[in-house]
Amino acid sequence: MIYTVTLNPALDKTVEIPSLTVDSVNRITAMRTDPGGKGINVSKVIRKLGRESTATGILGGNTGRAICAALEAMKIKTAFRFVEGETRTNLKVIDPVNHTNTDLNEPGITVSEEILNGLLAELLSKLRKGDIVVLSGSLPKGSPVNTYGTWVNACKKAGAKVILDADGELLANGMQASPYLIKPNNHELSALTGETLKTPDALKKAARSLMQKYDIARIVVSMGGAGALYLTEHETIYAEGLKVPVKSTVGAGDSVVAALAAAEESGKSLADAVRLSAACGAANVMCSGTQAAEYAVIKELMPRVVFHKL
Ligand SMILES: Nc1ncnc2c1ncn2[C@@H]1O[C@H](COP(=O)(O)OP(=O)(O)OP(=O)(O)O)[C@@H](O)[C@H]1O
Ligand SMILES: [Mg+2]
Repeated sequence: MIYTVTLNPALDKTVEIPSLTVDSVNRITAMRTDPGGKGINVSKVIRKLGRESTATGILGGNTGRAICAALEAMKIKTAFRFVEGETRTNLKVIDPVNHTNTDLNEPGITVSEEILNGLLAELLSKLRKGDIVVLSGSLPKGSPVNTYGTWVNACKKAGAKVILDADGELLANGMQASPYLIKPNNHELSALTGETLKTPDALKKAARSLMQKYDIARIVVSMGGAGALYLTEHETIYAEGLKVPVKSTVGAGDSVVAALAAAEESGKSLADAVRLSAACGAANVMCSGTQAAEYAVIKELMPRVVFHKL
């Protein structure tokens, strides 16, 4: 089983307002709501790939219940812990006239270490050897900065492979517990090393040195439209970005993580994991908001993925 952990989920509300103006009444011309948060996005993509996952994390209030119901309607298994407070709603305002994207994000729930430890204990009681745990995204207020380090250690002890997709100090801390795979983008990897890494070669060198220093089996460095690097112990593959019409790049990395988890669980070769994840990333940017791409689109893109050893 793949478990996705979203400690700080959100209901993503995307609205369209032509010519958005501050200090004035604006009319919404289109809107949609999607359950969001990076782990939840991963679960949605895994579902589109025809595989199962269990989405876990922390939810609260009516917004939390709405997220849970929406996931269940998508036939995604859920194991959330409900706590006091209201899960945040993140409002994205798209202005098709001025081509702007404005985000208004609520603060969300504050958690205690007891809540986090309770959820971790619940997850550990379910984990079997060979399960995959995806830890993704930001942490709610009140979480210790080494939360991901604690979770990586505990899940590994239970025999699971851990994929960590976080940034800044959350990644820096979690990485020290040697997760199986991390997927920084080029900016996140640059921030970790303290220098702006511009070329695939420079990114490869930095990732390889992290891999050795922290004993991480796999690192995937995504580079937006420029594609991604895939490092294993013995090789590095560079997959070029696919040229596709771009609607929204939000969640492209989550699609890559979903594909990597699915490929790992089904024992796919590295080449097949590269094809699937690059196609998933590209298919995602063709969709608006955090909508997950359809498998038919992903399947069509797979043979177009160009990659070579670096
Ligand atoms: N403009 C684009 N055109 C084509 N493919 C893209 C584009 N942007 C992203 N992708 C695909 O998606 C993958 C992941 O993108 P990116 O590096 O932007 O992830 P990210 O920054 O982690 O995203 P997020 O955290 O918002 O989910 C890329 O490796 C690529 O395959
Ligand atoms: Mg990302």
